[in-house]
Amino acid sequence: MTTSPDAVALQARLLAWFAANARDLPWRHTRDPYAILVSEIMLQQTQVERVIPKYLAFLTTFPTLAALANAPTAEVIRMWAGLGYNRRAVNLQRAARAVLEAHAGVFPREVAALLRLPGVGPYTAGAVACFAFEQDVAFIDTNIRRVLRRARVGPDQHAPAPAERELLALGAALVPSGQGWVWNQALMELGALICTAAAPSCHRCPIMAVCRANATWRTEEAALVLAMGANFAPAPARVVRRVAERRTEPYQGSRRWFRGRLVDALRALPSDVTMPLADLGPLVKADFQPTDLPWLHELVTALAHDGLVRLEDDHVRLP
Ligand code: ADE
Repeated sequence: MTTSPDAVALQARLLAWFAANARDLPWRHTRDPYAILVSEIMLQQTQVERVIPKYLAFLTTFPTLAALANAPTAEVIRMWAGLGYNRRAVNLQRAARAVLEAHAGVFPREVAALLRLPGVGPYTAGAVACFAFEQDVAFIDTNIRRVLRRARVGPDQHAPAPAERELLALGAALVPSGQGWVWNQALMELGALICTAAAPSCHRCPIMAVCRANATWRTEEAALVLAMGANFAPAPARVVRRVAERRTEPYQGSRRWFRGRLVDALRALPSDVTMPLADLGPLVKADFQPTDLPWLHELVTALAHDGLVRLEDDHVRLP
């Protein structure tokens, strides 16, 4: 594939910036596909700073794929405390068991095979293929999506959002041959440190000169300056950008919040203890009444369906 001159400039600038500014993150020191999978699953919905100690502790407790696959699920859920979205812990163990059973413990390298693992979607499959096996693949997470869209399409609030397939094609055209690992890490790093959702630091951005969103913002600001008179010039960094990626519904009192509290309550129990539903209720809901039992039963049934708890004879425990 021929690469356009502006794409070549973008690649060179971003890679040079990453070489000088990359954070030292523990999962950047390994190519073990198991450790990469653990890091990527943890990083999907949790901040880097919060993941680092959990990632290190998890790998100390479950140092290998086999260690995780053979552990009691309750222990895996306990190790997930503080990360949230507990279903990821169960899916991670299911994926480890699938590699053990369907692939004799040898991680598949191909995206198509990785995609067949439980809980592994296009992003995670691409990330493992790239960060463990150093394949030149494109994949998209929140940070990469934002960087690609701004750099190659335009500002967030202009035009409809490009389709995922379109962004993936734009991303694939940019992966420098033989440098997929460092390229994808660099894209993520730019999205995390510079090209943030709410207030991108364009003045510090290595690809500002070749960024389409920035070109539009500069044109708009120039027009604003003209319209307001020559002696008023807004500083670009202070221009407020709209945030489109925030969760807006209240978390406390939500179904996910109650699910988390329920699993937290069970984590606090010794491993061989089961709890009657009626005793669990007040631990989860402050003003719990017997009339709330059907609600609690439904919540626990859904958690049991996800493999997060076991429900037997109206008694609950971690699986
Ligand atoms: N988020 C997801 N994967 C990441 C990685 N490899 N480095 C930094 N942040 C990430």
